[in-house]
Amino acid sequence: MVRYRERYGDVVYVSMPLAELYLLNHPDDIQTVLVGEHAHVMKDELTRTLSLIVGQGLLTSEGELWRRQRKIAAPSFQPRHIERFGEAMVERSRRGVEALPARSRRDVHADMMRITLEIVLDTMFGADTVRDIDGVGEIVDTLMEGYGREFLTWRRLLPRRLRVAAFARIDDAVGRLDAILYELIAARRGRAVAGDADLLDRLLAAQDDEGKGMSDRQLRDEVATVFLAGHETTALALSYALYLLAHHPRVARALRAELDEVLGDRPATVDDLPRLRLCDAVLRESMRLYPPAYLVGRELLEDREIAGFPMPKGAQLLTGQWVVHRDPRWFPAPELFWPERWLDGLAARLHRFAYFPFGGGPRICVGNHFAMLEGVLVLATLVQRLEVSPYDSAPPLRLSTSVTLRPTQGVWLDVRRRDG
Ligand code: HEM
Repeated sequence: MVRYRERYGDVVYVSMPLAELYLLNHPDDIQTVLVGEHAHVMKDELTRTLSLIVGQGLLTSEGELWRRQRKIAAPSFQPRHIERFGEAMVERSRRGVEALPARSRRDVHADMMRITLEIVLDTMFGADTVRDIDGVGEIVDTLMEGYGREFLTWRRLLPRRLRVAAFARIDDAVGRLDAILYELIAARRGRAVAGDADLLDRLLAAQDDEGKGMSDRQLRDEVATVFLAGHETTALALSYALYLLAHHPRVARALRAELDEVLGDRPATVDDLPRLRLCDAVLRESMRLYPPAYLVGRELLEDREIAGFPMPKGAQLLTGQWVVHRDPRWFPAPELFWPERWLDGLAARLHRFAYFPFGGGPRICVGNHFAMLEGVLVLATLVQRLEVSPYDSAPPLRLSTSVTLRPTQGVWLDVRRRDG
């Protein structure tokens, strides 16, 4: 996609079997699609296929259903509501560090998946843990890999009857996921809500204008959406941040100096956030170079003129964080990991859609404050207690463009506990 931009510019038409793609590389046009044209678009074809896994939850639903569900869920994600989760986020990461040996060579992506999964279960669904937490990691891998292979490669052109085994594997993983989700829901139904309700309480209590609650199926879809969207992406952001820090010891030293000054040995809290400026910048810069959501797509509901070109109903409009975040027009030395670029108010100067790891417009990531809070607190807790470095025989970082930008063989680093 970067090569296409370099060769053809800001609007690139790609004719593919079964799809007409338009790649939009300029922030003005991305804003048009995600904000101005909101009423004339729906999620793109590939995002829609995700409903195989998350049904008609917030990420994949449209129209009145989406509006209603977003209204119910959004208050649970407002900053004032999620700040109380800070302590649990730090505690879960501290426990994650304590479970590590004094020194090991390990796949930190697997570690991050576990920590962020525990955080989402604890904070959003009030579950202490699920029975088989390692099983969940395996389910997510199967779903993401299966989805990537079946929908994002040439295999999607094959008739379904030639892909029976692949779909059976996906169905089986969805079945195992459902068993976990229905258990979470059943454990909560009927329980009296005391004090601050968490997301699951709100979803259970939500009623429409006729006083009808959500069906079990709708509830399951919302829970599956937050369960998956709410931990896999954040785990990726943290894994790439650790990878980049390991390869940039100067930045790692500067970050450690900030943590020593602001926190010393004590655990981070939400009140420390305004002073953890470099930590915030490291996370932002990591999501610039390795955006967990690397593409946001829409489909046109009617013929429209976009970016000065007539585009037909059904056209797939793709806006790519990977491409825009590496565009030298917005980021000098775009390939350079340079968190300090964010420290002098860059975010306020940039075009709103030159940096958009959480998308934008009405369908902006509902969990964006949650993710930033979690990202900074977990990263601070990890860097306070761990040293990470690369080693020669580590499998190289290879990326796969599944639903999210995933490391195909993990993120392997030498990890040493500072108290070890
Ligand atoms: C670094 C972490 C994260 C990244 C990069 C990310 C990215 C995104 C992006 C780009 C979208 C918009 C997709 C579109 O417009 O088509 C989105 C939507 C969404 N995200 Fe996130 N996300 C993250 C964390 C989270 C968390 C922590 C949660 C929940 C706890 C969450 C829940 C959702 C939901 C429910 C939607 C659908 C919103 C709607 O359409 O109304 N995400 N996310």
